[in-house]
Amino acid sequence: MDSIRIEGGARLEGSVRISGAKNAALPILCTALLADGEHSFRNVPELRDIRTMAQMLRHLGLDVDVQESTVAVRGRPVAEPVAPYEHVKKMRASVLVLGPLVARYGRASVSLPGGCAIGARPIDQHLKGLQAMGADIEIKHGYVDVSVPKGRLLGAEIHFDLTTVTGTENLMSAAVLAKGRTILTNAAREPEVEELARVLNKMGANVRGAGTDVIVIEGVDSLHPVDHAVIPDRIEAGTYLAAAAATRGDVRLEGVSFDYLEAVAAKFRAAGVHVEREGDGIRAGCDRSPRPTDVTTAPYPAFPTDMQAQFMALMCLAEGQCRITETIFENRFMHVPELNRMGANIQVNGRTATIQGVRKLQGAQVMATDLRASASLVIAGLVASGTTELRRVYHLDRGYERIEKKLSGLGATVERIPGDA
Ligand code: EPZ
Repeated sequence: MDSIRIEGGARLEGSVRISGAKNAALPILCTALLADGEHSFRNVPELRDIRTMAQMLRHLGLDVDVQESTVAVRGRPVAEPVAPYEHVKKMRASVLVLGPLVARYGRASVSLPGGCAIGARPIDQHLKGLQAMGADIEIKHGYVDVSVPKGRLLGAEIHFDLTTVTGTENLMSAAVLAKGRTILTNAAREPEVEELARVLNKMGANVRGAGTDVIVIEGVDSLHPVDHAVIPDRIEAGTYLAAAAATRGDVRLEGVSFDYLEAVAAKFRAAGVHVEREGDGIRAGCDRSPRPTDVTTAPYPAFPTDMQAQFMALMCLAEGQCRITETIFENRFMHVPELNRMGANIQVNGRTATIQGVRKLQGAQVMATDLRASASLVIAGLVASGTTELRRVYHLDRGYERIEKKLSGLGATVERIPGDA
Protein backbone atom coordinates (compact mmCIF):
# COMPACT_ATOMS: atom_id res chain seq x y z
CA MET A 1 0.00 0.00 0.00
CA ASP A 2 1.34 3.40 -0.97
CA SER A 3 2.10 6.09 1.57
CA ILE A 4 2.57 9.82 1.27
CA ARG A 5 5.54 11.66 2.79
CA ILE A 6 5.19 15.36 3.60
CA GLU A 7 7.90 17.80 4.71
CA GLY A 8 5.99 20.45 6.69
CA GLY A 9 6.55 24.21 6.63
CA ALA A 10 5.82 25.36 3.09
CA ARG A 11 3.27 28.12 2.47
CA LEU A 12 0.85 27.03 -0.28
CA GLU A 13 0.78 29.55 -3.13
CA GLY A 14 -0.52 29.55 -6.68
CA SER A 15 -3.60 28.05 -8.29
CA VAL A 16 -5.12 24.57 -8.35
CA ARG A 17 -7.88 23.23 -10.59
CA ILE A 18 -10.71 21.58 -8.72
CA SER A 19 -11.87 18.28 -10.21
CA GLY A 20 -15.42 17.10 -10.82
CA ALA A 21 -17.52 16.17 -7.78
CA LYS A 22 -17.14 12.53 -6.71
CA ASN A 23 -20.51 12.53 -4.93
CA ALA A 24 -22.24 13.90 -8.01
CA ALA A 25 -20.47 11.62 -10.49
CA LEU A 26 -21.32 8.41 -8.63
CA PRO A 27 -25.15 8.68 -8.86
CA ILE A 28 -24.87 10.24 -12.32
CA LEU A 29 -22.96 7.23 -13.69
CA CYS A 30 -25.82 5.03 -12.45
CA THR A 31 -28.32 6.93 -14.64
CA ALA A 32 -26.85 4.98 -17.60
CA LEU A 33 -28.86 2.03 -16.25
CA LEU A 34 -32.05 3.98 -16.98
CA ALA A 35 -31.58 4.42 -20.74
CA ASP A 36 -29.91 2.31 -23.47
CA GLY A 37 -27.51 4.01 -25.89
CA GLU A 38 -24.37 6.14 -25.75
CA HIS A 39 -23.93 8.25 -22.61
CA SER A 40 -20.99 10.64 -22.21
CA PHE A 41 -20.02 11.96 -18.78
CA ARG A 42 -17.32 14.64 -18.68
CA ASN A 43 -15.34 16.31 -15.88
CA VAL A 44 -15.55 13.04 -13.96
CA PRO A 45 -12.80 12.92 -11.30
CA GLU A 46 -10.11 10.28 -11.83
CA LEU A 47 -10.63 8.45 -8.55
CA ARG A 48 -10.65 4.95 -7.15
CA ASP A 49 -14.38 5.21 -6.35
CA ILE A 50 -15.18 6.08 -9.97
CA ARG A 51 -13.22 3.03 -11.16
CA THR A 52 -15.12 0.92 -8.64
CA MET A 53 -18.46 2.17 -9.96
CA ALA A 54 -17.30 1.53 -13.54
CA GLN A 55 -16.52 -2.07 -12.56
CA MET A 56 -19.98 -2.44 -11.06
CA LEU A 57 -21.67 -1.14 -14.22
CA ARG A 58 -19.54 -3.47 -16.37
CA HIS A 59 -20.56 -6.37 -14.14
CA LEU A 60 -24.19 -5.45 -14.87
CA GLY A 61 -23.44 -5.64 -18.60
CA LEU A 62 -22.83 -2.03 -19.63
CA ASP A 63 -19.78 -1.01 -21.68
CA VAL A 64 -17.81 1.56 -19.67
CA ASP A 65 -14.77 3.32 -21.10
CA VAL A 66 -12.89 5.64 -18.74
CA GLN A 67 -10.55 8.00 -20.60
CA GLU A 68 -9.05 10.47 -18.10
CA SER A 69 -11.98 12.64 -16.98
CA THR A 70 -14.43 11.42 -19.64
CA VAL A 71 -16.50 8.29 -19.06
CA ALA A 72 -18.38 6.83 -22.03
CA VAL A 73 -21.09 4.34 -21.12
CA ARG A 74 -23.10 2.25 -23.55
CA GLY A 75 -26.36 1.45 -21.80
CA ARG A 76 -28.08 -1.79 -22.72
CA PRO A 77 -30.67 -4.09 -21.10
CA VAL A 78 -29.34 -5.77 -17.96
CA ALA A 79 -29.89 -9.53 -17.90
CA GLU A 80 -29.31 -10.01 -14.19
CA PRO A 81 -29.99 -6.89 -11.98
CA VAL A 82 -27.71 -8.14 -9.19
CA ALA A 83 -25.04 -6.06 -7.42
CA PRO A 84 -22.82 -8.66 -5.71
CA TYR A 85 -21.02 -8.42 -2.39
CA GLU A 86 -17.55 -8.38 -3.94
CA HIS A 87 -18.37 -5.11 -5.63
CA VAL A 88 -20.53 -3.45 -2.98
CA LYS A 89 -18.05 -4.18 -0.20
CA LYS A 90 -15.49 -1.93 -1.96
CA MET A 91 -17.78 1.08 -1.95
CA ARG A 92 -21.10 1.56 -0.20
CA ALA A 93 -22.19 4.10 -2.84
CA SER A 94 -22.71 1.03 -5.08
CA VAL A 95 -26.15 0.97 -3.46
CA LEU A 96 -26.97 3.78 -5.91
CA VAL A 97 -27.65 1.15 -8.60
CA LEU A 98 -30.71 0.02 -6.64
CA GLY A 99 -33.13 2.79 -7.66
CA PRO A 100 -32.32 2.67 -11.38
CA LEU A 101 -32.45 -1.15 -11.53
CA VAL A 102 -35.83 -1.39 -9.81
CA ALA A 103 -37.18 1.49 -11.91
CA ARG A 104 -36.13 -0.17 -15.15
CA TYR A 105 -36.57 -3.89 -14.44
CA GLY A 106 -39.04 -4.09 -11.57
CA ARG A 107 -36.52 -6.12 -9.54
CA ALA A 108 -32.98 -6.03 -8.14
CA SER A 109 -30.79 -7.83 -5.67
CA VAL A 110 -28.10 -5.69 -4.03
CA SER A 111 -25.65 -6.74 -1.36
CA LEU A 112 -26.28 -4.77 1.82
CA PRO A 113 -23.46 -2.24 2.13
CA GLY A 114 -22.94 -2.99 5.83
CA GLY A 115 -21.35 -0.51 8.17
CA CYS A 116 -18.20 1.44 7.53
CA ALA A 117 -15.53 3.16 9.61
CA ILE A 118 -17.59 6.30 10.22
CA GLY A 119 -20.86 4.67 11.19
CA ALA A 120 -23.56 2.01 10.75
CA ARG A 121 -25.01 3.87 7.74
CA PRO A 122 -28.17 1.75 7.21
CA ILE A 123 -30.35 2.10 4.09
CA ASP A 124 -33.75 1.75 5.77
CA GLN A 125 -34.97 5.03 4.23
CA HIS A 126 -34.06 3.85 0.74
CA LEU A 127 -36.07 0.66 1.27
CA LYS A 128 -39.02 2.39 2.97
CA GLY A 129 -39.39 4.60 -0.10
CA LEU A 130 -39.31 1.68 -2.54
CA GLN A 131 -41.94 -0.13 -0.46
CA ALA A 132 -44.15 2.96 -0.61
CA MET A 133 -43.83 2.77 -4.41
CA GLY A 134 -45.11 -0.82 -4.47
CA ALA A 135 -41.95 -2.88 -4.10
CA ASP A 136 -41.66 -5.97 -1.92
CA ILE A 137 -38.44 -6.05 0.10
CA GLU A 138 -36.78 -9.17 1.44
CA ILE A 139 -33.44 -9.20 3.26
CA LYS A 140 -31.63 -12.52 3.30
CA HIS A 141 -28.05 -13.81 3.20
CA GLY A 142 -26.76 -10.22 3.34
CA TYR A 143 -28.65 -9.12 0.25
CA VAL A 144 -31.71 -6.94 -0.17
CA ASP A 145 -34.04 -8.47 -2.77
CA VAL A 146 -36.50 -6.01 -4.27
CA SER A 147 -39.37 -7.03 -6.53
CA VAL A 148 -42.40 -5.16 -7.87
CA PRO A 149 -45.42 -7.49 -8.17
CA LYS A 150 -47.19 -5.08 -10.51
CA GLY A 151 -44.05 -4.95 -12.66
CA ARG A 152 -43.75 -1.14 -12.51
CA LEU A 153 -43.26 1.15 -9.52
CA LEU A 154 -46.14 3.48 -8.70
CA GLY A 155 -45.64 7.13 -7.76
CA ALA A 156 -46.06 7.77 -4.02
CA GLU A 157 -45.70 10.42 -1.34
CA ILE A 158 -42.53 9.62 0.62
CA HIS A 159 -41.42 11.48 3.75
CA PHE A 160 -37.85 10.85 4.86
CA ASP A 161 -37.53 10.35 8.63
CA LEU A 162 -34.07 11.90 8.35
CA THR A 163 -32.11 13.66 5.65
CA THR A 164 -30.28 11.16 3.46
CA VAL A 165 -28.30 12.14 0.36
CA THR A 166 -28.09 8.78 -1.42
CA GLY A 167 -31.55 7.88 -0.13
CA THR A 168 -32.94 10.93 -1.92
CA GLU A 169 -30.88 10.11 -5.01
CA ASN A 170 -31.95 6.46 -5.10
CA LEU A 171 -35.65 7.28 -4.82
CA MET A 172 -35.48 10.16 -7.28
CA SER A 173 -33.88 7.76 -9.79
CA ALA A 174 -36.53 5.11 -9.03
CA ALA A 175 -39.41 7.58 -9.46
CA VAL A 176 -38.47 8.91 -12.91
CA LEU A 177 -39.82 5.74 -14.62
CA ALA A 178 -42.62 5.03 -12.11
CA LYS A 179 -46.29 5.31 -13.09
CA GLY A 180 -47.61 8.62 -11.79
CA ARG A 181 -46.33 11.31 -9.45
CA THR A 182 -43.85 10.89 -6.59
CA ILE A 183 -43.37 13.55 -3.94
CA LEU A 184 -40.26 13.33 -1.74
CA THR A 185 -40.49 15.44 1.42
CA ASN A 186 -37.65 16.12 3.87
CA ALA A 187 -35.43 15.39 0.88
CA ALA A 188 -31.69 16.14 0.93
CA ARG A 189 -30.83 19.56 -0.55
CA GLU A 190 -27.18 18.91 -1.41
CA PRO A 191 -25.87 20.34 -4.72
CA GLU A 192 -25.11 16.78 -5.82
CA VAL A 193 -28.82 15.92 -5.55
CA GLU A 194 -29.66 18.97 -7.66
CA GLU A 195 -27.02 17.95 -10.21
CA LEU A 196 -28.49 14.44 -10.49
CA ALA A 197 -31.93 15.94 -11.16
CA ARG A 198 -30.36 18.11 -13.88
CA VAL A 199 -28.99 15.00 -15.58
CA LEU A 200 -32.26 13.05 -15.24
CA ASN A 201 -34.19 15.97 -16.78
CA LYS A 202 -31.67 16.12 -19.66
CA MET A 203 -32.53 12.44 -20.22
CA GLY A 204 -36.24 13.30 -20.55
CA ALA A 205 -37.35 12.92 -16.93
CA ASN A 206 -39.62 15.41 -15.14
CA VAL A 207 -38.05 16.29 -11.78
CA ARG A 208 -38.92 19.55 -10.02
CA GLY A 209 -37.73 21.02 -6.73
CA ALA A 210 -34.33 19.34 -6.44
CA GLY A 211 -32.16 21.46 -4.16
CA THR A 212 -35.13 22.04 -1.88
CA ASP A 213 -36.62 19.61 0.66
CA VAL A 214 -39.64 18.86 -1.55
CA ILE A 215 -38.96 17.11 -4.85
CA VAL A 216 -41.80 16.27 -7.27
CA ILE A 217 -41.21 13.66 -9.96
CA GLU A 218 -43.73 12.93 -12.75
CA GLY A 219 -42.93 9.42 -14.02
CA VAL A 220 -42.32 8.96 -17.76
CA ASP A 221 -42.28 5.80 -19.89
CA SER A 222 -38.71 5.97 -21.11
CA LEU A 223 -35.53 8.08 -21.09
CA HIS A 224 -32.75 8.72 -23.61
CA PRO A 225 -28.95 8.83 -23.18
CA VAL A 226 -27.21 11.99 -21.99
CA ASP A 227 -24.03 14.02 -22.48
CA HIS A 228 -23.10 15.93 -19.32
CA ALA A 229 -20.19 17.65 -17.59
CA VAL A 230 -20.20 17.12 -13.81
CA ILE A 231 -20.12 20.07 -11.37
CA PRO A 232 -16.87 20.69 -9.45
CA ASP A 233 -16.19 19.07 -6.09
CA ARG A 234 -17.05 21.47 -3.26
CA ILE A 235 -15.42 19.21 -0.67
CA GLU A 236 -12.15 18.97 -2.58
CA ALA A 237 -12.29 22.77 -2.88
CA GLY A 238 -12.91 23.15 0.86
CA THR A 239 -10.02 20.81 1.57
CA TYR A 240 -7.57 22.97 -0.41
CA LEU A 241 -9.08 26.04 1.25
CA ALA A 242 -8.22 24.53 4.63
CA ALA A 243 -4.69 23.65 3.47
CA ALA A 244 -4.12 27.20 2.20
CA ALA A 245 -5.36 28.66 5.48
CA ALA A 246 -3.35 26.29 7.68
CA THR A 247 -0.10 27.04 5.83
CA ARG A 248 -0.85 30.82 5.85
CA GLY A 249 -0.72 30.65 2.11
CA ASP A 250 -2.48 32.37 -0.76
CA VAL A 251 -4.23 30.01 -3.16
CA ARG A 252 -6.64 30.35 -6.08
CA LEU A 253 -9.11 27.50 -6.56
CA GLU A 254 -9.94 27.25 -10.28
CA GLY A 255 -13.31 26.30 -11.69
CA VAL A 256 -15.35 25.99 -8.52
CA SER A 257 -18.55 27.83 -7.66
CA PHE A 258 -18.52 29.86 -4.46
CA ASP A 259 -22.29 29.28 -4.26
CA TYR A 260 -21.97 25.75 -2.91
CA LEU A 261 -19.46 26.77 -0.24
CA GLU A 262 -21.33 29.56 1.57
CA ALA A 263 -21.42 27.82 4.99
CA VAL A 264 -17.82 26.65 4.65
CA ALA A 265 -16.58 30.09 3.59
CA ALA A 266 -18.45 31.73 6.49
CA LYS A 267 -16.63 29.56 9.02
CA PHE A 268 -13.24 30.13 7.43
CA ARG A 269 -13.86 33.89 7.42
CA ALA A 270 -14.86 33.71 11.11
CA ALA A 271 -11.49 32.04 11.68
CA GLY A 272 -9.72 34.99 10.04
CA VAL A 273 -9.18 33.43 6.61
CA HIS A 274 -9.66 35.62 3.51
CA VAL A 275 -12.10 33.84 1.16
CA GLU A 276 -13.32 35.75 -1.90
CA ARG A 277 -14.89 35.06 -5.26
CA GLU A 278 -12.34 35.65 -8.02
CA GLY A 279 -13.60 35.17 -11.57
CA ASP A 280 -14.82 31.60 -11.99
CA GLY A 281 -12.97 30.54 -8.87
CA ILE A 282 -12.19 31.36 -5.27
CA ARG A 283 -9.17 33.13 -3.75
CA ALA A 284 -8.21 32.06 -0.21
CA GLY A 285 -5.42 33.10 2.08
CA CYS A 286 -4.45 33.66 5.67
CA ASP A 287 -1.67 35.69 7.26
CA ARG A 288 -2.30 34.96 10.96
CA SER A 289 -3.00 32.21 13.43
CA PRO A 290 -6.63 31.14 12.98
CA ARG A 291 -9.23 32.36 15.45
CA PRO A 292 -10.93 29.49 17.35
CA THR A 293 -14.30 28.92 15.66
CA ASP A 294 -17.05 26.51 16.75
CA VAL A 295 -18.65 24.31 14.06
CA THR A 296 -21.63 21.97 14.09
CA THR A 297 -22.12 19.79 11.03
CA ALA A 298 -25.57 19.39 9.52
CA PRO A 299 -27.21 18.66 6.14
CA TYR A 300 -26.82 21.19 3.32
CA PRO A 301 -26.85 24.18 3.30
CA ALA A 302 -25.21 23.97 6.75
CA PHE A 303 -21.54 23.16 7.35
CA PRO A 304 -20.94 19.74 5.70
CA THR A 305 -19.81 16.70 7.67
CA ASP A 306 -17.34 16.00 4.86
CA MET A 307 -15.44 19.17 5.82
CA GLN A 308 -15.37 18.50 9.59
CA ALA A 309 -12.01 16.73 9.78
CA GLN A 310 -10.27 19.24 7.52
CA PHE A 311 -11.55 22.22 9.51
CA MET A 312 -10.44 20.51 12.72
CA ALA A 313 -6.89 20.29 11.37
CA LEU A 314 -6.93 24.07 10.97
CA MET A 315 -8.36 24.59 14.45
CA CYS A 316 -5.45 22.60 15.97
CA LEU A 317 -3.36 25.77 15.49
CA ALA A 318 -6.02 28.29 16.60
CA GLU A 319 -5.36 30.97 19.24
CA GLY A 320 -7.62 29.35 21.81
CA GLN A 321 -10.29 26.74 22.37
CA CYS A 322 -13.22 25.76 20.15
CA ARG A 323 -15.72 22.94 19.76
CA ILE A 324 -16.64 20.86 16.74
CA THR A 325 -19.86 18.84 16.91
CA GLU A 326 -20.54 16.04 14.43
CA THR A 327 -24.29 15.45 14.08
CA ILE A 328 -24.42 13.25 10.95
CA PHE A 329 -22.24 10.21 11.65
CA GLU A 330 -21.67 8.50 14.98
CA ASN A 331 -17.98 7.77 14.58
CA ARG A 332 -16.37 10.50 12.53
CA PHE A 333 -13.56 11.57 14.88
CA MET A 334 -11.01 8.90 13.95
CA HIS A 335 -8.58 11.61 12.85
CA VAL A 336 -8.42 12.86 16.47
CA PRO A 337 -6.01 10.26 17.93
CA GLU A 338 -3.70 10.70 14.94
CA LEU A 339 -3.81 14.51 15.20
CA ASN A 340 -3.02 14.23 18.93
CA ARG A 341 -0.03 12.06 18.07
CA MET A 342 1.18 15.06 16.03
CA GLY A 343 0.96 17.29 19.09
CA ALA A 344 -2.62 18.53 18.84
CA ASN A 345 -4.71 18.91 22.00
CA ILE A 346 -8.17 17.52 21.28
CA GLN A 347 -10.63 15.89 23.67
CA VAL A 348 -13.65 13.99 22.40
CA ASN A 349 -16.83 13.70 24.43
CA GLY A 350 -19.54 11.88 22.49
CA ARG A 351 -20.38 13.90 19.39
CA THR A 352 -18.30 16.93 20.39
CA ALA A 353 -14.56 17.46 20.08
CA THR A 354 -12.93 20.25 22.09
CA ILE A 355 -9.79 21.60 20.42
CA GLN A 356 -7.26 23.62 22.43
CA GLY A 357 -5.03 25.33 19.91
CA VAL A 358 -1.27 24.68 20.12
CA ARG A 359 1.62 26.62 18.64
CA LYS A 360 3.15 23.80 16.62
CA LEU A 361 2.44 20.31 15.36
CA GLN A 362 5.17 17.70 14.93
CA GLY A 363 5.51 15.44 11.92
CA ALA A 364 4.84 11.76 12.64
CA GLN A 365 3.97 8.43 11.04
CA VAL A 366 0.17 8.38 10.93
CA MET A 367 -2.51 6.03 9.66
CA ALA A 368 -5.38 6.95 7.37
CA THR A 369 -8.72 5.48 8.45
CA ASP A 370 -11.28 7.08 6.16
CA LEU A 371 -11.33 9.51 3.29
CA ARG A 372 -11.76 12.84 5.07
CA ALA A 373 -9.74 11.86 8.15
CA SER A 374 -6.86 11.20 5.73
CA ALA A 375 -7.26 14.69 4.25
CA SER A 376 -7.12 16.18 7.74
CA LEU A 377 -3.80 14.41 8.42
CA VAL A 378 -2.37 15.72 5.14
CA ILE A 379 -3.28 19.27 6.18
CA ALA A 380 -1.66 18.71 9.59
CA GLY A 381 1.45 17.30 7.89
CA LEU A 382 1.72 20.39 5.69
CA VAL A 383 2.08 22.65 8.75
CA ALA A 384 3.88 20.28 11.11
CA SER A 385 7.59 20.67 11.76
CA GLY A 386 9.43 17.73 10.28
CA THR A 387 8.29 14.78 8.25
CA THR A 388 4.85 13.19 8.24
CA GLU A 389 4.31 9.82 6.63
CA LEU A 390 0.67 8.94 5.96
CA ARG A 391 0.02 5.24 5.40
CA ARG A 392 -2.94 3.51 3.70
CA VAL A 393 -3.20 6.27 1.14
CA TYR A 394 -5.83 4.29 -0.77
CA HIS A 395 -8.35 6.01 1.50
CA LEU A 396 -7.23 9.36 0.08
CA ASP A 397 -7.22 8.06 -3.49
CA ARG A 398 -10.93 7.34 -3.18
CA GLY A 399 -11.78 11.04 -3.12
CA TYR A 400 -8.78 13.17 -4.06
CA GLU A 401 -7.42 13.17 -7.60
CA ARG A 402 -3.59 13.23 -7.70
CA ILE A 403 -3.41 15.03 -4.35
CA GLU A 404 0.39 14.90 -4.12
CA LYS A 405 0.72 16.49 -7.59
CA LYS A 406 -1.80 19.21 -6.84
CA LEU A 407 -0.14 20.02 -3.50
CA SER A 408 3.36 19.98 -5.02
CA GLY A 409 2.05 22.40 -7.66
CA LEU A 410 1.20 24.75 -4.80
CA GLY A 411 4.71 24.55 -3.36
CA ALA A 412 4.31 21.74 -0.84
CA THR A 413 7.05 19.13 -0.38
CA VAL A 414 4.98 15.98 -0.87
CA GLU A 415 5.84 12.66 -2.47
CA ARG A 416 4.10 9.32 -2.91
CA ILE A 417 6.09 6.32 -1.69
CA PRO A 418 5.02 3.21 -3.60
CA GLY A 419 4.17 0.52 -1.09
CA ASP A 420 3.97 -3.25 -1.21
CA ALA A 421 0.91 -4.73 -2.83
C1 EPZ B 1 -23.48 10.82 1.33
O1 EPZ B 1 -23.45 9.59 2.02
C2 EPZ B 1 -22.06 11.07 0.88
N1 EPZ B 1 -21.64 10.00 -0.03
C3 EPZ B 1 -21.12 11.13 2.09
O2 EPZ B 1 -19.83 11.45 1.63
C4 EPZ B 1 -21.60 12.24 3.03
O3 EPZ B 1 -20.79 12.26 4.18
C5 EPZ B 1 -23.06 11.99 3.41
O4 EPZ B 1 -23.87 11.89 2.22
C6 EPZ B 1 -23.63 13.12 4.26
O5 EPZ B 1 -23.54 14.33 3.56
C7 EPZ B 1 -22.08 10.02 -1.30
O6 EPZ B 1 -22.83 10.91 -1.71
C8 EPZ B 1 -21.61 8.92 -2.19
P1 EPZ B 1 -26.66 9.89 4.25
P2 EPZ B 1 -24.84 8.87 2.40
O7 EPZ B 1 -27.57 8.83 3.72
O8 EPZ B 1 -25.89 9.21 1.43
C9 EPZ B 1 -28.25 7.92 8.27
C10 EPZ B 1 -17.51 11.28 1.49
O9 EPZ B 1 -16.67 11.56 2.34
N2 EPZ B 1 -29.12 7.12 7.39
O10 EPZ B 1 -26.96 11.31 3.94
O11 EPZ B 1 -24.54 7.44 2.67
C11 EPZ B 1 -26.78 7.61 8.08
O12 EPZ B 1 -26.40 6.52 8.89
C12 EPZ B 1 -18.75 10.51 1.86
O13 EPZ B 1 -17.45 11.62 0.28
C13 EPZ B 1 -30.04 6.24 7.96
O14 EPZ B 1 -30.12 6.11 9.18
O15 EPZ B 1 -25.19 9.59 3.78
C14 EPZ B 1 -26.11 8.90 8.50
O16 EPZ B 1 -25.97 8.90 9.90
C15 EPZ B 1 -18.66 10.01 3.28
N3 EPZ B 1 -30.84 5.52 7.14
C16 EPZ B 1 -27.12 9.97 8.07
O17 EPZ B 1 -28.37 9.29 7.90
C17 EPZ B 1 -30.79 5.62 5.77
O18 EPZ B 1 -31.58 4.94 5.07
C18 EPZ B 1 -26.77 10.67 6.76
O19 EPZ B 1 -26.52 9.65 5.82
C19 EPZ B 1 -29.85 6.52 5.21
C20 EPZ B 1 -29.03 7.26 6.03
